[in-house]
Amino acid sequence: MADCIAPLLLAWYDQHARTLPWRGIHDPYRTWVSETMLQQTRVETVLGYYERFLNRFPTIAALADAPEDDVLKMWEGLGYYSRARHLHQGAKQVIAQFGGEIPATVEALRTLSGVGPYTAGAIASIAFDQPVPAVDGNVIRVVSRLRGIRENVGIPSVRRALEAAAASLVPDERPGDFNQALMDLGATICLPGTPSCERCPLRAECDACLAGDAEDLPVLPRKNPPRVLDYAVCLIFSGDRVLMRQRTEAMLHGLWVFPMVEGTPTLRQLSDAVRKLTKLPVTLLRGAGEARHVFTHQIWQMQLFTMAAPKDAKAPDTYRFVTLEEMDALTIPTAMKAAVRVVREK
Ligand code: ADE
Repeated sequence: MADCIAPLLLAWYDQHARTLPWRGIHDPYRTWVSETMLQQTRVETVLGYYERFLNRFPTIAALADAPEDDVLKMWEGLGYYSRARHLHQGAKQVIAQFGGEIPATVEALRTLSGVGPYTAGAIASIAFDQPVPAVDGNVIRVVSRLRGIRENVGIPSVRRALEAAAASLVPDERPGDFNQALMDLGATICLPGTPSCERCPLRAECDACLAGDAEDLPVLPRKNPPRVLDYAVCLIFSGDRVLMRQRTEAMLHGLWVFPMVEGTPTLRQLSDAVRKLTKLPVTLLRGAGEARHVFTHQIWQMQLFTMAAPKDAKAPDTYRFVTLEEMDALTIPTAMKAAVRVVREK
């Protein structure tokens, strides 16, 4: 019975809701920021960023007016940086197209940069009390078990059925609390692998709990394994400065990295490649260790090298020689952490 699920879950939420800084407020800007940060990112990680971001950009107008580099800097280490660039774009859109007021309907929210069905549903329900669903990975898990959806949720018709099931659960009263209760249930009880059904407030209503196959759900599409890429990362010093480049590629767009040569070149090949890349007479100094970074779709296996360029060397186009102090002001992806440490300790 759909009717009793919302009261049961809300009663549980009133007892067990996690105390989080983006709760208990009705402010669509804050909800937009928190829900954007929470995509693909653990609550514990977001806690370290949310307040800092809002202190730096307290209003949507402040965010819209900020340079993109400042927005990326406040996102440094959080990953999936396109989220920050979209949020920034979206803020500009709200100023230009909506008179500075974040719209209240899912349809209008969906027109904003980076706002997909999940974020639109989260903002509309949490900040505007609209009875609409917000389906993220946790909610997919909870609803597929609750309603016994045993087909692959990657199939569009199955996904639509799941979204319809989620929509039919959302109550007219406290829809934002209800959606966040589903998320909390998924994060603390209705876990992947081994759910704690014995503690679940919905166990008597749950198809999978009654059938005994909750741990087999949801049926998820098979993921391609991440691609492993080898790189030689080049720490090229000119006096007390080091050479960096701001990425223009889609991945890590706008972030600063050290020059990288793909593959596992010999020292000779590496020197040649770097001279060609930078048009500088660099000399190889030494190998400076290895590092590995796992992204969603790629794994970078990096060999680090230090190199020397002449003291008065001019950076090639699209590159910059930066001092340590200047380096601190740039947004550098976590993948470069080991390389940054080598530069600092040089
Ligand atoms: N994950 C996504 N949105 C969330 C929220 N509002 N509270 C807790 N976890 C979440």
